[in-house]
Amino acid sequence: MSNVVLSQDEIHAPYGGVVPELASRQHLTSISYVVGECLKRSQLKLDQIDAYAVTQGPGLIGALLVGLSFAKGLAYYFGKPLIGIDHLEAHIESVFLESRQISFPALALVVSGGHTSIFFMKKKNDYQLIGRTRDDAAGEALDKIAKFLDLGYPGGPIIDKLAKKGNPQKFAFAIPQMTDGSLDFSFSGLKTAALRQIRDFNISKNNPHFFDFLASFEMAVIRALLSNLAQTVKRFKPQSLILCGGVARNKKLRQHFIEFGKELDLSSFIPSPSLCSDNAAMVAAMGLEKLKSGKRFSYFLDLNAYPRFS
Ligand code: KG4
Ligand code: ZN
Repeated sequence: MSNVVLSQDEIHAPYGGVVPELASRQHLTSISYVVGECLKRSQLKLDQIDAYAVTQGPGLIGALLVGLSFAKGLAYYFGKPLIGIDHLEAHIESVFLESRQISFPALALVVSGGHTSIFFMKKKNDYQLIGRTRDDAAGEALDKIAKFLDLGYPGGPIIDKLAKKGNPQKFAFAIPQMTDGSLDFSFSGLKTAALRQIRDFNISKNNPHFFDFLASFEMAVIRALLSNLAQTVKRFKPQSLILCGGVARNKKLRQHFIEFGKELDLSSFIPSPSLCSDNAAMVAAMGLEKLKSGKRFSYFLDLNAYPRFS
């Protein structure tokens, strides 16, 4: 009914990345306003809410605790169920907000600023983690290279825009491969290779190959994601592919992901860009799924936040 997103990008931009302490404080000062605005836009009163869904993790612990404590207060006061939601499962749920005809089994690739993970879903609401990054997340790699080149924050959308003007074949990047047969990702090698090229070729905004460099690096990140996905498809033989998380806003990634699905004759699904970035609608949708499952939820005041994937 309403989905209010308050960006903190401006607050973190001067530091070139999220400052956890600033993030928690900003959550604290804006949460009442955001919830109030959400109710206003949906023309609802708090006593009309049947249940509260809130992100438990993974994420920054301070920010998670602010949301969780606020939701606990509301659930307790109004005597309504409180449903703890996993951030990555909620990203996957964002696809189901718009597309209901997804056949299973499915593979879901979650690509964000903090996570790069693949889940196997035998059926709806059934998640098996089969690969994740061992170091940087894909979004983090894009953000760090943008920061290094002094392009602004967050770097992902900036690279998305600037890379369009460049030739993605100009700079060569080796795609990381796991030697132990695992389906994990690694982006720190790619980031180091990019830093080396920046130094060797003197890449800056004034270099004639600046856009080519960004296009090549963006393409390397996309190739790393899709080459791992290709291996996963071979092993798990899904019927559908899902792409979600903040980096799924990237236009070139969206295009290559759809082409990848077509080549393998698999149906592929990506949420609309506004539902790819962190948002409350995906958390509420996941909460509704859990509520409908028939499981009894009491006030659960002992729910706790977790910083890492559980
Ligand atoms: O899922 P998300 O909103 O927050 C986390 O859970 O991390 O993802 C944020 C990440 C950031 O790294 C940001 O640079 C990246 O998503 N991002 C993009 C684009 N828009 C956001 N990366 C590439 N292209 C974009 N258009
Ligand atoms: Zn996220």
